[in-house]
Amino acid sequence: MNNSNRPLRVILGTGGTIAGRAARAGDNVGYVAGQVRVEDLLAGVPALQGCPLEVEQVYQVDSKDMHFGLWKRLLLRISHHLARDEVAGVVVTHGTDTLEETAFFIQSVLRPSKPVVFTCAMRPATALVPDGPQNLLDAFTVAGHPEVSGCVVVCAGEMHAAEHVSKVHSYRVNAFDSGDAGALACIEEGEVRWFHGPIQRTLPSNPEHLLARVLEADALPNVQVVTSHADADGSVVHALMRAGELDPVLRPRGIVVAATGNGTVHRALEQALSDAMAQGVRVVRSTRCARGRVIPDLAQSMPDSAGLSPVKARLAIALSLLAS
Ligand code: SIN
Repeated sequence: MNNSNRPLRVILGTGGTIAGRAARAGDNVGYVAGQVRVEDLLAGVPALQGCPLEVEQVYQVDSKDMHFGLWKRLLLRISHHLARDEVAGVVVTHGTDTLEETAFFIQSVLRPSKPVVFTCAMRPATALVPDGPQNLLDAFTVAGHPEVSGCVVVCAGEMHAAEHVSKVHSYRVNAFDSGDAGALACIEEGEVRWFHGPIQRTLPSNPEHLLARVLEADALPNVQVVTSHADADGSVVHALMRAGELDPVLRPRGIVVAATGNGTVHRALEQALSDAMAQGVRVVRSTRCARGRVIPDLAQSMPDSAGLSPVKARLAIALSLLAS
């Protein structure tokens, strides 16, 4: 196939370890994230030379510092490129630490029909054996695949849905997992091998409304995550509520509790959360377990997170408050 028949893909750089640089070659941990420009990352992927692609550096951050303003900037660049007829898909290079949140945010707000492929690395670009170049090549493949749509994450030869994926390891190169849902597919030598078939997503009734609300907002509604654990005493919730009495901007509008097991909460924390609910705070139970979900139970006053992890449930509540 010559290049004019091959789909154009846009690669957006945002930083992360994939763009990290260490002082000593081979140092996999003592590096600074977000140093190497996205066009320079391509030098490590000879197979991409001559391929129809464009690159753009949107920003350079360590994704632990991600915030709403940066998400909006990325959202605008992704939607700009997706609207171009000649663009088949977009790749986003991103830090691993909050990648699942960014992918879920973009999926929830944009609901793209073309592929938006988030990729990353666990080792910096200066590592003896960096994992970024293969991940970037795989992501490029996925972004031009006719059966892929919406936001997915590509890492260590696997493709995951934005809704299900979480970072589950602090160091290994295969750091991502989709829990009970499993990976969607693997990428083998430039071929996508589906495990379950392409993901089917239901569209919200009015996606433009949420997009408009996000674009006009300066911040997401304040939704916090608290964890239930042995000796939990509810003091974090009390402190949040007190802070909100002193300054209305700090008043939590929602709280996600990362509950034990199937959504159980220490009784002291549960009392504090019930009191917050009585004052109009939206409270949702997710689980701190790495796998499984909180089983829906209509008898419970605190609803479950519909299978979303605590950090994604936080976003889901914030976006629904924004849209309401
Ligand atoms: C980051 O999330 O930006 C740094 C860590 C990583 O990419 O693995």
